[in-house]
Amino acid sequence: MTASAPGPAYDIHPGNVTEKVIASFHMRSERESQLLAGLVTHLHAFAREHHVTHEEWAKAVGFLFRCGEISSEKRDEFMLLSDVLGLSSLVDMTDAPKGATEGSVLGPFYASDSPLLPIGADLRASPEDAPLLVRGVVRSTGGGGVPGASIDMWQTNVNGLYATQDDAVPDDALRCKMHCAPDGSFHFTTVLPGPYMVPDDGPVGELLRAGGRTAWRPAHFHFLLRADGHRPITTEIFIAGDPHLGSDAVFGVRKSLIVEPVTEDGQRVVELAFTLAPGDA
Ligand code: BEZ
Ligand code: FE
Repeated sequence: MTASAPGPAYDIHPGNVTEKVIASFHMRSERESQLLAGLVTHLHAFAREHHVTHEEWAKAVGFLFRCGEISSEKRDEFMLLSDVLGLSSLVDMTDAPKGATEGSVLGPFYASDSPLLPIGADLRASPEDAPLLVRGVVRSTGGGGVPGASIDMWQTNVNGLYATQDDAVPDDALRCKMHCAPDGSFHFTTVLPGPYMVPDDGPVGELLRAGGRTAWRPAHFHFLLRADGHRPITTEIFIAGDPHLGSDAVFGVRKSLIVEPVTEDGQRVVELAFTLAPGDA
């Protein structure tokens, strides 16, 4: 978008400021121009439509400032804001590959250095913890298992803490990378994760409380699935019956991602089936 708004640059009034701002940008690509023009148009429309006062605008800018202030390498308050506003989930859904397993939020606890473990590994923090067998397969939209598919899985312990948050647990427990068998199958032993709250001691927590909302997330497993020639998927698996399924603080739950553990020969088992769509890795 390179059109310039009519009149001298300093002739600015509510009727032309949106156009002037858009025209002032000279982005490197048509796509960037389109996104920026859309952002400015919608922000200005919001301020006009709701007649945002100076005080309200300053409060909002102050809120964003505080999001920046509390953010660090370990904490991304802006991502959390995107999550609790449902924007992360909206993008997950609108940019989803057709026919593939539905995506869900990545969350802040993904660590790319999970140990590469063989199929059948035991991820529990302690052999005394009640075992859960997770059995799954990664298929292509065509139906067949994807040879060479890889999974990256991370979850909380029964107490709702990720291993990195719990000094009593080795950092690399309850997470792994795993290469699927040639037929796309995999399995591992772990525990049923526990529900937990998103960090609510910052500005986003204030927003949740101001809105009478909960910070709880239902218990879940995170999965990142990759295979050559396929689009990667970041998703989550939730447990049927969890009391927080209908009030997830970050809107990550999808019906298709809820599983019901069954008992087989006295062993608790969950069965998973993921589908990847062809595309660039
Ligand atoms: C999580 O699932 O770990 C998470 C997701 C979004 C925000 C905070 C935590
Ligand atoms: Fe999580």
